[in-house]
Amino acid sequence: MKYYPLFLDLRGQRCLVIGAGSLAEEKVAGLHRSGADVEQAESFRPGSLAGVRLVIDASGDAGTGELVWEEAERLGVLVNVVDVPDRCRFIAPAIVDRDPLVVAISTSGESPYLASALRARMERWLGAEWGPFVSLVGRIRRQLRGQGMALSQQTPIYRRLLRSRARRLFAQGRDLEATFEAAAIAEAGDSRAGRVALVGAGPGDPGLLTVAAQELLFEADLVIHDALVAPEVLALCGPQTRLVHAGKRGGRPSARQEEISASLIEAARQGLDVVRLKGGDPFVFGRGGEEMAALLEAGIEVVVVPGVSSVQAAPAAAGIPLTLRGVASSFAVTSLKAGDAAAAASRLEALAAAVDTLVVLMPLADLDQLGARLAGALGDRPAALVSAAGTPEERVVRAPVAAVAEAARRARLEGPATLVVGEVVSWSAGHPLAPPAQVVGAGRAG
Ligand SMILES: C[S@@+](CC[C@H](N)C(=O)[O-])C[C@H]1O[C@@H](n2cnc3c(N)ncnc32)[C@H](O)[C@@H]1O
Repeated sequence: MKYYPLFLDLRGQRCLVIGAGSLAEEKVAGLHRSGADVEQAESFRPGSLAGVRLVIDASGDAGTGELVWEEAERLGVLVNVVDVPDRCRFIAPAIVDRDPLVVAISTSGESPYLASALRARMERWLGAEWGPFVSLVGRIRRQLRGQGMALSQQTPIYRRLLRSRARRLFAQGRDLEATFEAAAIAEAGDSRAGRVALVGAGPGDPGLLTVAAQELLFEADLVIHDALVAPEVLALCGPQTRLVHAGKRGGRPSARQEEISASLIEAARQGLDVVRLKGGDPFVFGRGGEEMAALLEAGIEVVVVPGVSSVQAAPAAAGIPLTLRGVASSFAVTSLKAGDAAAAASRLEALAAAVDTLVVLMPLADLDQLGARLAGALGDRPAALVSAAGTPEERVVRAPVAAVAEAARRARLEGPATLVVGEVVSWSAGHPLAPPAQVVGAGRAG
C-alpha cells in the first residue's frame, strides 16, 4: 500500500492554501468545514510555513510547487502540491460525506475518475439517512457505556440497530419514530425475539436478487437454504452468517418439511435473525405458505420477500414473452407434481385448454406423459424447455409439444427445467436473443 490512510483532526490548526482559482477556494472550504484555521494566499512567500500544520499548493505553478515542497519538507509540514504526486506527503481522497459518517476513497492516485465514480455509487448506497442514524447510534453507545454495560452486551444491540427500521424511518423523515425504535432496542437489550424472513433467491443469477434479499442475507445470523440456491447468491451472506443446507440435515438426503419448520422456530426463539432462502419465489411451488403458517402459529415474526420465479425467469431467458399483444393474453402455471396424480393431470388439460401460454414446473420426470396429454388437449402446439435459466449452464430445447420429451432426451437436457407451451414459443423463434440469452441481471450480463 503506497499511502497510510488516516483522518486528521485539524480543529484550530493553522493551514495554508496557495492559489487564487476555484480549486484553491474548494480546498479552503473543505478545510474550513473541518474547523481548521485556514488562510489563503495568492502566491507563496518563503518563510510563510512557520507554525503551519498543513499546506496545499493549488497555484498550478511548477516553480511555486517546488518552493512550497522544499520549505514544507524542511519544517516537517504536511504538504500537497495539487496534481504532482511526487510533491505530496498526503493526498485527498474522494469522500462520501454523511457527517458524522465519512467514507474516504482513494485509488492511490491511479484514477481520480474511478474514485469519483465509486463515490457516486456509494452515495446512492449510503443515503443521507446515515448521518442522523450514526449520530443516534453514537448517543446510544455513550449511554450504554455510561451505564457500565460490557462490550459483549453492547454489540448485539448495535447489530439490532443496524437491522432495525430506524434507518428507513430517517430516510422517510420520521426522525422521532426512528429515535423511539432505537431506544426500545437499546432498552430490550438481549431479550428481543428472533425473526424469520422467507426470501426468494431468484433463478440463480445474483443480479436477479432483490435489494431487500441482499440486505437480509448480509445481516442474517442463520440462512437455511435449498439445493437450488446458487453458490454466488450464498456468497452474499455476511461473515457472521451460518449456512445450513436444508436438503442435507441430519445426514439424510432430504429434511422433512416439519423438521425444517421446527428448526426455523427454534432458531427464532433463540433470538436469531433467520433467512429461509428458496430458489425462485418462496410462494411458487416452494412450500413457503406451509412454513409461514407454522411460524405464525408458533408466534414467530415472519417477513416475506418475493423473488423472481423461474415462471418468469425461464421464459425470459429464452426470449419467450408469456403474454404478447395479438398472440397471447393469458397464462397459467402448474405442475404434475402437485397433489393427487389424476387430479393434477386433469387440471393440466383444463388449464392448457383455457389459457394461451402454459408454464409447467418440475416437468422432466413426467415429460412423456406431459407431452402426450398436452398434445391430446392442444394438438401440435409449440413448446420450449428452458434449463438452468439465469446460470452459465442455461439451455433451451424447442419442439412441438408432442415431440418435446424425445427432443429433451436427444439433447440430454438436465434439470432444473421449465416447460413453456404456446404460440409465443414459435414467435420467439423468429426473434432470437443473441446467445447466450441476455435477459439476466447485471451480475452475469455480458
Ligand atoms: C420446487 S420448484 C421451485 C420453484 C421456485 N420456487 C420458483 O419460483 O422458481 C422447482 C422447479 O422450478 C423450476 N426451476 C427452478 N430453477 C430453474 C432454473 N434456473 N431454470 C429453469 N427452471 C427452474 C424447475 O421447473 C424446477 O423443477
